[in-house]
Amino acid sequence: MNYREYIANRIKAEGVSAKEIEEAIAVPPNTDMGDYALPCFKFAKVMRKPPVVIANELAAGIAPDGVIAEVTAVNGYLNFKIDKAGLAKSTLAQIEDEGDFYGASRKGAGKTVCIDYSSVNIAKPFHIGHLSTTVLGSALYKIYTFLGYNVVGINHLGDYGTQFGKLICAYKHWGDKATIEAGGIHAINNLYVRFNNEATEEMEAEAREYFRLIESGDKEANEIFEWFKSLTLAYVNKIYRRLGVKFDSYNGERFYSDKMQPVIEELEEKGLLKESEGAKIVDLEEYGMPPCLILRSDGASLYATRDLAAAYYRKDTYDFYKCLYVVAYQQNLHFKQIFKVLELLGKDWAKDMVHVAYGMVSLEDGAMSTRKGKVVWLEDVIEKCVEKAYTVINDKNPALENKRDIAEKVGIGSVIFGALYNNKIKDIVFSYDKVLSFEGETGVYCQYTCARANSVLQKAGEERFTLPENLSVEPQEYEVVKTLAAFPEAVCDAAEKYEPSIIARYAVDLAQKFNKFYFDCKILTAEPAAKGFRLQLTKAVLQTLTNALSLLGIGVPEKM
Ligand code: ARG
Repeated sequence: MNYREYIANRIKAEGVSAKEIEEAIAVPPNTDMGDYALPCFKFAKVMRKPPVVIANELAAGIAPDGVIAEVTAVNGYLNFKIDKAGLAKSTLAQIEDEGDFYGASRKGAGKTVCIDYSSVNIAKPFHIGHLSTTVLGSALYKIYTFLGYNVVGINHLGDYGTQFGKLICAYKHWGDKATIEAGGIHAINNLYVRFNNEATEEMEAEAREYFRLIESGDKEANEIFEWFKSLTLAYVNKIYRRLGVKFDSYNGERFYSDKMQPVIEELEEKGLLKESEGAKIVDLEEYGMPPCLILRSDGASLYATRDLAAAYYRKDTYDFYKCLYVVAYQQNLHFKQIFKVLELLGKDWAKDMVHVAYGMVSLEDGAMSTRKGKVVWLEDVIEKCVEKAYTVINDKNPALENKRDIAEKVGIGSVIFGALYNNKIKDIVFSYDKVLSFEGETGVYCQYTCARANSVLQKAGEERFTLPENLSVEPQEYEVVKTLAAFPEAVCDAAEKYEPSIIARYAVDLAQKFNKFYFDCKILTAEPAAKGFRLQLTKAVLQTLTNALSLLGIGVPEKM
């Protein structure tokens, strides 16, 4: 239940909407006076009364019910005490009833959200820099789906550009089929690096010719290109499978090769296209931005041109309610330009385009080097986390069954959680020891808390589900209950702010509150009335934590 909303709906204040009241309701740092407080100062102007009078009048109008236990007016504040037992009972019943769907809703029914994420570059390394876009996009995919939206996950492949001419040229000179088949993307990348280091003027010219051949539909050039593409996709798909990431469309830049003309014509018709040194641009000086390049002087299209065509295509095909681009903040300007150009074209849906920008990830042991050929492959980071997880688990609990499966869940969870825990715009320094700590604010800590809850429930066996008539709720229990009740709000908040970290932080908060309760209150040895309640609480925490983690793409082992 959303308590703010509930309380707001119980208050009738003339000239103030329930929404405004809901937004003004706060959780006081000290809950002695109440669990929620409404400052009435904000309404003095519209209601033409002093806050103290408003608070007194409003308090008189609200009778306690099964949710609100007490309302008091103090110095212009309305203080609400929640019926703790009532809240506990209704929350536990709801979680029991909704199970895996606790926190879900139909809020987004009938609306489509496109999410452009991961967007790998064909024949280029899939490196640690792709971690955030991949796991952020995937979490948003799951969150929006949970809220009833129809979601289209799009991998906007980087499969267009002169570098493919270079690659084919390098392959023709130095490559052979067997080495590429055996080495896959690494072998292709080696060719590319070698070209950049060793190519002669002549080879550069040849590369341009190969690129032209791909574009003009030459059979051989296209076959080689498609081969490189399929090797890249086979490689990244293995990683996606491990991370639980999926896509509905792999329409990349090349897909738009034949879809740019209508956009260019419309720009022309609407008088937006200008010549500048032979190139065609949209002048954005008025908006404080450099021009958006549409066609180069040799007639070639650009990244931006293809993104404009992609935006048109997505609107036509999916009629999206929102179209998100989960792309690093380095591309802030690019998206500002694209959105502005769409606006100038008169597309009212330009306002529904959102650049979900995020910060850089570097490794603690030496920042990611961009020097030719020196990159940290994401696969290696994942592998290392899973290996380290195995060592940790094996040390802690050598007798555990299925240690490999558990290590996979823990290792993958640590990578994902490590990338999602901080506000997305922050730069992250990835540390293996930190993300795999059982004590820190980590995925492992949350998973371990689930294992703890599981073990309590298993020991209790069948005898759990009776709640006493007169339920008394201890402070530690109440903290858990309130946090449980706040989960649906956290999910909505994460979607609205495009911020999966809200759910990651929620999970840590719930785990911490549960652990405090676990250490302070006996569960299995409590007297019967308290025991029934505490077991139900434990079960509800396990369910809610599992739901939260699964929205991030993290699995929960039964034992650890
Ligand atoms: N492939 C691009 C890169 O690695 C990201 C593409 C993002 N999506 C888009 N529609 N521009 O920088």
